Amino acid sequence: MRSRIAVLASGSGSNLQALLEHLDERGEQRGGDVVLVVSNRRDAGALARARDRNIASVALAANADENALDALLREQDVDLVVLAGYLTLVPPALVRRFRGAMLNVHPALLPAFGGPGMYGRRVHEAVLQGGARVSGVTVHFVDEVYDHGAIIAQWPVPVFEEDSADTLAARVLRVEHVLFPRVVDAVAADAIVLDDDSRVRGAFLTGPQGWAFSLPRDATRLTADIESALAR
Ligand code: GRF
Repeated sequence: MRSRIAVLASGSGSNLQALLEHLDERGEQRGGDVVLVVSNRRDAGALARARDRNIASVALAANADENALDALLREQDVDLVVLAGYLTLVPPALVRRFRGAMLNVHPALLPAFGGPGMYGRRVHEAVLQGGARVSGVTVHFVDEVYDHGAIIAQWPVPVFEEDSADTLAARVLRVEHVLFPRVVDAVAADAIVLDDDSRVRGAFLTGPQGWAFSLPRDATRLTADIESALAR
């Protein structure tokens, strides 16, 4: 039974697009389908992308009450919620209801460079400011504490001397577009789960140089995909 996925996004929706394209590529093997896109911004590119694909899309008014989002998710019988740059608070009751079924992508290697207010280019400015030589992408389960839930997968992204926040953001985003959809697909297919003691269980693979990440997929294939994404 395929998961019914809702994507919550406030921005251009490039991660939504990457997810839609990955699920298309997976065809009958895909773990779920995006059935709803919700934004807190009427002009979000993510809503336009949803409309282009005839996927239900809703702009939530800033003063919408807590239950409005929950009602939308129930209406569409959603069982997996994906935050792809959703820049407003998810009601704690909803986070609890979707424990183990709500994911977020963060454009740095949590727990570093995360937490309240750390989003968008602020993250990359902090990475450069801190002199980090490696940044990266984190995909994690969402819990009641911002950017804190159990980490599912991470992938390092090099920081170069000449980087600006924009060049680093673009490099990290390209890796997000490869890693995030594959993790969403694996969680949608129950190949990765959050168990009762908040540990992530899934087909653990040790990638090259001993990087451990929980993806039930050939690490060399993922490395090749990411390397070609970085080469673009
Ligand atoms: C991404 O950089 C993601 O890491 C962050 O929000 C941004 C969303 O970008 N959580 P897009 O709207 O998917 O292009």
